[in-house]
Amino acid sequence: MNAEAFLSGKSAGTEAALHALVAEWSDAPTRLVEAVSYSLFAGGKRLRPALALGACELVCGSDAPALPAACALEMVHTYSLIHDDLPAMDDDDLRRGRPTSHKVFGEATAILAGDALLTMAFEVAARTGNIAIVTELARAAGIAGMVGGQQMDMEAEGREISLAELRGIHACKTGALIRCAVRCGAMAGDANNVQLDALSAYGEHLGLAFQIVDDLLDVTGDAEKLGKATGADAAHVKATYPALLGLEEARRLAAQTIDAALESLAAFGPEADAFRALAQFVINRDR
Ligand code: IPE
Ligand code: IPE
Ligand code: MG
Ligand code: MG
Ligand code: MG
Repeated sequence: MNAEAFLSGKSAGTEAALHALVAEWSDAPTRLVEAVSYSLFAGGKRLRPALALGACELVCGSDAPALPAACALEMVHTYSLIHDDLPAMDDDDLRRGRPTSHKVFGEATAILAGDALLTMAFEVAARTGNIAIVTELARAAGIAGMVGGQQMDMEAEGREISLAELRGIHACKTGALIRCAVRCGAMAGDANNVQLDALSAYGEHLGLAFQIVDDLLDVTGDAEKLGKATGADAAHVKATYPALLGLEEARRLAAQTIDAALESLAAFGPEADAFRALAQFVINRDR
């Protein structure tokens, strides 16, 4: 199983569904719809939708029941990137290979494009008819998840922090939504509790590893391939794994975390091979 093929296969379905959803809002202010589309269709990896679709397929043999959740997750994720790049936050000029939303549309419209994506996401998630999925997404995206993690990330700038605290920041700002993606997909596929627990553990480890690698790529990556600037974390004196531990130890912890993700899949057979390949992709990725 090839992770790139799995990601691009799942992202094709997500892409089409997202286009159909955004078309429903064509009567909204044109510039806002443009700003939403600009960021949403800029060529993200679509990892979170792929995790939701893959988890659903793993437990029930079809990914279709997870499609609304997959779209909602990508909407929340894209909103988080638009706001993360704002001058008041990470102040970045490049995202997904394009100038950031606020550079093109101005700060006010960028803020509203993020707000629009976040609220659209919940309308779309509600279409699953599954209140547990909507609640899961709200928890992961909100004050005790991604948004809380962003606050902690900001407050940790320029300050010495422990590894335990840093792990907590990464688990919230990035891990929560990735774990949520796996869980929502599994829930859409009517996973049993044993499956849901195993997949939650996989998502949790994968999410932490994903952000450690994001930190590493900010130091060692190629901005062209990443579609975003490198060296930004050091410039902001961000709390990151490489800053706290050095490159080598950060790489070792990322690999160890991926091993833990793989161990979480031990009870599954070949039906989980796509998720095993995805774990390898996360540690080896250059984008
Ligand atoms: C970037 O996420 C921000 C983090 C949470 C680390 P991705 O690396 O998944 O970004 P896209 O969606 O592919 O642009
Ligand atoms: C992003 O972390 C976490 C989000 C919730 C968006 P980063 O700030 O490190 O993400 P990049 O490097 O800008 O993509
Ligand atoms: Mg940030
Ligand atoms: Mg950032
Ligand atoms: Mg980063």
